[in-house]
Amino acid sequence: MKKPGNGGSRQLHVKVKTAKGRKKSSTQWLQRQLNDPFVQKAKEDGYRTRAAYKLIEIDEKFGILKPDTKIIDLGAAPGGWCQVAVKKIKSGKIIGIDLQEIEPIPGVILIQHDFTADDAPEILSKALSGKKADLILSDMAAPACGHAQTDHIRIMGLCEIAFDFAKHNLREGGSFAAKILQGGTEKELLDDMKKCFETVKHFKPESSRKDSAEMYVVAKGFRG
Ligand SMILES: C[S@@+](CC[C@H](N)C(=O)[O-])C[C@H]1O[C@@H](n2cnc3c(N)ncnc32)[C@H](O)[C@@H]1O
Repeated sequence: MKKPGNGGSRQLHVKVKTAKGRKKSSTQWLQRQLNDPFVQKAKEDGYRTRAAYKLIEIDEKFGILKPDTKIIDLGAAPGGWCQVAVKKIKSGKIIGIDLQEIEPIPGVILIQHDFTADDAPEILSKALSGKKADLILSDMAAPACGHAQTDHIRIMGLCEIAFDFAKHNLREGGSFAAKILQGGTEKELLDDMKKCFETVKHFKPESSRKDSAEMYVVAKGFRG
């Protein structure tokens, strides 16, 4: 991936003034968005979100997006990872699920549903015609509340449910990549993953904000 700001995208320095009625946190968010080279690059490359580059970087490092594979993308909105996957695998099947509606992406089956609902595994399995997936991705995140430990527990909870789903819906040899948030409980989950996969690695993409505790765990070679 051509890195933004290294002769690629123009380096931005936009200063946002505080406005009446706008919270300080909103001004800070706006300023960060306007000065973020990955936001700029996503616009130029036609991705819906800067999150697309996280999957691009994960794939560059671990080679998980292979042609003609069946992929389930958990927490897919607004669709950046699906856009990356559909470009890379060319044929195969990609299913994205999210609480939020996702604008159509040609070649991707999109489902608006709560992944933690009891019927979600069945809905996803039907969408894959009862077949097992080659790759399960999860970038799921509950809206951050700002309390680090609560945010950590929420994201790790989603990751645990995604891992449990992967144990039942991945083919032998398949891969699983999921967002985690560092904060104390991740070791136990990673130890469990090591029992089910040949390799389990941590990765912090450059496109993941430095001030965020977010990381990705990439597990390959599902033992079945
Ligand atoms: C960081 S965004 C994902 C961005 C996505 N990877 C992309 O490239 O567009 C996290 C998503 O997780 C979704 N999410 C959180 N909890 C969920 C749940 N229980 N079921 C389905 N989606 C969920 C949120 O709605 C949100 O859209």
